[in-house]
Amino acid sequence: MSDTQTIAPPFDIEVLRNEFPNISDTAASGRPIVYLDTAATAHKPLQVINRISEFYSKQNSNVHRGVHTLSAQATAYYEESRKEVQSFLHAESADEIVFTKGTTESVNLVAYTWGERNVGAGDEILLTEMEHHANIVPWQMLCERKSATIKIIPVLDNGELDMDAIDSLISEKTKIVAVTHVSNTLGTINDIATICDKARRHGIVSFVDGAQAVMHLEVDVQKIGCDFYAFSAHKLYGPTGVGILYGRKALLESMPPFMGGGAMIDTVTFQKTTYANAPGRFEAGTPNIAGIIGMAEAIRWFRKIDVNQLAAYEANCTSILLDTLRSIDNITVLGAAEHRIGIATFVADGAHAHDIGILLDEQGIAVRTGHHCTMPLLQRFGVQQTVRASLGAYSNQADVEAFGNALQKSLRMLQ
Ligand code: ALA
Repeated sequence: MSDTQTIAPPFDIEVLRNEFPNISDTAASGRPIVYLDTAATAHKPLQVINRISEFYSKQNSNVHRGVHTLSAQATAYYEESRKEVQSFLHAESADEIVFTKGTTESVNLVAYTWGERNVGAGDEILLTEMEHHANIVPWQMLCERKSATIKIIPVLDNGELDMDAIDSLISEKTKIVAVTHVSNTLGTINDIATICDKARRHGIVSFVDGAQAVMHLEVDVQKIGCDFYAFSAHKLYGPTGVGILYGRKALLESMPPFMGGGAMIDTVTFQKTTYANAPGRFEAGTPNIAGIIGMAEAIRWFRKIDVNQLAAYEANCTSILLDTLRSIDNITVLGAAEHRIGIATFVADGAHAHDIGILLDEQGIAVRTGHHCTMPLLQRFGVQQTVRASLGAYSNQADVEAFGNALQKSLRMLQ
């Protein structure tokens, strides 16, 4: 393993920034970058980069395939990674952790397996108005296949869910509630424990999209009381192409396979195939072994940080970001939730979001522009194109100040 500096309490932002080559050595990318697009993907610390490199340069082999030493070692790292995720999510068993390609695949896996078995004509699926397309479209596709319908928990003007509406939206036809833990556009942290509790009391299955949550909050799936929880490694300072699906063991065991192929079987004949138990049943083909080992390393890296200190630090950066935006004339920030993470999405009168994004980029500031894969949410706020600035653990006050100055300059040119 790599020998990097340890981010032991007290939380030291400069030590932490130095662990990220893309943040601390911006000359390497040709010009300085103030990176305010962590909600799209986070940069990776050296500890993760080195671990992936180490696997490919010294340990590369397939998993669950060979008796040789390298394969056995790769299999051990792979299964240790599953245990790392189990511990990270406080799941009861490592068998409740399925490796996927990302949050999107995790949603599709549940919609195509659990959904295929449990949703029928006339049934209802309850979503929220703030869902990412990844937590809308797979359910819509399921509804089209099954003649089921989608119901929506509305978002209030302040960017919080209308929790009072939930009880009247639940009916005896509701089969699953699928809700994001944290909005990728508003930054709102939802009270998912309450939503999952309501679902459970009605015998309804709950699915939580944790893509924007796990890098900001302590997640305990048993305390939350959800049936499924999904996230992606690349937003948690790990590699792209790796995701997690947590599922309660009894539910996973009741679900048919998602994709067929090697490694997900028990026995195969041309007459009949029997399947492996969960989670292997859902992991057909050679997985992203290096990526999964890299993700476990990202979790180890992340868990060295005191999550409460990180949350306090990020909350301070977030309030500076919001104050900066509110101090600029003709800017409207979407939502104003009390509990939120470091995401600010806004529109500016008389300036197109895309133009703002380009002018910011010319000044070395990276933000995301557009609909952020949440078209229904933007429609609810009556806007089409927005600018989003999002913070990571490595973001600092200087980043926010540079963004504020560059934004004012851009608006002077556009308005
Ligand atoms: N879901 C990611 C985002 O919000 C890609 O940018």
